[in-house]
Amino acid sequence: MADTLADNGAVAPADGPDTGHDYDGIRELDNRLPNWWLASLVGAIVFGFAYWTYYQVFHAGPTEMAAYHAELAQAERAAKALQAAHPLDDATLVAMSKKPAVVAAGSATFHSTCAACHGANAQGLIGPNLTDAYWIHGGRPTEILHTVTSGVPAKGMPTWGPVLGATRVQQVVAYLLTIRDTDVPGKPPQGQLYQTAIAPGGK
Ligand code: HEC
Repeated sequence: MADTLADNGAVAPADGPDTGHDYDGIRELDNRLPNWWLASLVGAIVFGFAYWTYYQVFHAGPTEMAAYHAELAQAERAAKALQAAHPLDDATLVAMSKKPAVVAAGSATFHSTCAACHGANAQGLIGPNLTDAYWIHGGRPTEILHTVTSGVPAKGMPTWGPVLGATRVQQVVAYLLTIRDTDVPGKPPQGQLYQTAIAPGGK
């Protein structure tokens, strides 16, 4: 494997047969390709042919798109099953109201979105006082969730479900559950008395 000096003085390896092609002093040698390189080339061709035959000729396996849609459908079924097994009940909302991060997020939403009508301390302004034990549309956690989600458009309470999305609505309801029955002085009570202490399960 002695190196030779080309005409222009550059060093060129001289281990393969010279093809006789010379381009401005750059000679073409017909070197043997390394075995590992040949093996990966042949391997890629064989694999590609087998892959193409399997998926495109015989359609023996699902395409990536079909596999993706199957996985998506399975995830949707799993989510639905989970929802059916654990509907968002009063207990879940009460549990959320005990999580500081959830309540903090709900408080932020309340102060940016609801305070204009319900007051900065939820003491009532255009909308009712949300800190008393009286509720026009029901004081159960799931009832409050329903009121906030669907609103009472005829009475000036907007429909927040589509605006905020389910997660933020749940967070703001969790926040409301931490301030109900705190009786911040403000708008006088409206609606029916809902007593947490005697509500089913204390919810
Ligand atoms: C544009 C003013 C306005 C905004 C903004 C508003 N509300 Fe209201 N809200 C009202 C009014 C008015 C009512 C009373 C509806 C009625 O009399 O039936 C009400 C009622 C409610 C009730 C039912 C109270 C009860 O006694 O049953 C809840 C709960 C409530 N709002 C939560 C919220 C939350 C949470 C937000 C923010 C995401 C919000 N509201 C934003 C005006 C508003």
